[in-house]
Amino acid sequence: MTDYAMLSEQLKSLAEDEHGILPVLANASALLYWNLEDLNWAGFYLMDNGSLLLGPFQGKVACIRIPLGKGVCGTAAEKDETLVVENVHEFPGHIACDSASNSEIVVPIHKDGQVVGVLDIDSPSIGRFTEEDKLGLEKFVEVLEQVTDL
Ligand code: SME
Repeated sequence: MTDYAMLSEQLKSLAEDEHGILPVLANASALLYWNLEDLNWAGFYLMDNGSLLLGPFQGKVACIRIPLGKGVCGTAAEKDETLVVENVHEFPGHIACDSASNSEIVVPIHKDGQVVGVLDIDSPSIGRFTEEDKLGLEKFVEVLEQVTDL
């Protein structure tokens, strides 16, 4: 079981002295990738000229730009909704960056009520992400929204 409260506290400490988006998101992706079990990718896409642009991450190389409404990331950003996908191969329009990915969770990130990016986490296991992961990661993203200059 992942201790999301502890990870959120660690994120706050890491962002204490430097709030810049690059160092905070880079450390946030490392924090998640190395503390959650059974992942093959954890990172960020940020809104840029109406589409999602690859940001800091841990894992194999990934798609650089994702249009709004496309794939799991683009759909979560467009709907402004956390998406937990049990089997990505059954998700219409899923973008397969890494063929190892079988399940995924995407959490929108906000500034002033607008979606400014998403947190994307992939797993090689089908059904890896539970309601508990969803709540924990949504809280983690809330902390992220508070501690960094988005
Ligand atoms: N699978 C994602 C694309 C991003 S990668 O997994 C890192 C999607 O369908 O949005």
